[in-house]
Amino acid sequence: MADIVVLTAHPRLEHSRVNLALMQAAQQLPAEHVMVRDLYALYPDYLIDIAAERAVLAKAKLLVWQHPLHWYALPPLLKLWVDEVFGFGWAYGPGAHALRGKDLWMVVSTGGSAQAYHPSGHNRHFIDAFWPPHEQTAMLTGMRFLPPMVVHDAHRVAQREIAARTALFADRLASYPNWPELAELPDTEPCDVGPGDRPQR
Ligand SMILES: Cc1cc2nc3c(=O)[nH]c(=O)nc-3n(C[C@H](O)[C@H](O)[C@H](O)COP(=O)(O)O)c2cc1C
Repeated sequence: MADIVVLTAHPRLEHSRVNLALMQAAQQLPAEHVMVRDLYALYPDYLIDIAAERAVLAKAKLLVWQHPLHWYALPPLLKLWVDEVFGFGWAYGPGAHALRGKDLWMVVSTGGSAQAYHPSGHNRHFIDAFWPPHEQTAMLTGMRFLPPMVVHDAHRVAQREIAARTALFADRLASYPNWPELAELPDTEPCDVGPGDRPQR
């Protein structure tokens, strides 16, 4: 099992400029270090094999969510994957520590430009304003939330820029966990969810 799991989640990868290039770059890396899972190819029927996904995560140290931003959030199959795989009693809740100590890294493309992700742009906020639900998902499950990597303006960004970002992505995966900034990131404080915090059946 690999110590890095890249979940690529793009509903129309055949039309992708950015995510296809990123996924293919990750696929070039040694499979014993990086496992790439093309979620929409694995589960075209949206029937996620929860046990298989959890088994893959068991050995991973770094989980990468690599996807286009959809309505400021995750594409639907990746959202469903989180809903189903990060279950109570496994990912969170009393005695549930399956993800504790792992790292979560979001690698995201946006249709909007960097200028659009600005208080004066049509998205009204810097891109960082859209991370907190994901950061808290990481915190609740005991993972460290690494600074996301973003490729803006995905429909118009120059091919050479895509190539540069792709090379950076591959370099990051290849060199993990030896990233200079990781030493400065604090460990995740445990968020304990008690048994009474979930409706009883
Ligand atoms: C349903 C849907 C929702 C989208 N929502 C956003 C969004 O909230 N913000 C944004 O910047 N782009 C949004 N986009 C644009 C995608 O992020 C963009 O098409 C993608 O990043 C392009 O990457 P690719 O070259 O890998 O296809 C959306 C696209 C779709 C299909």
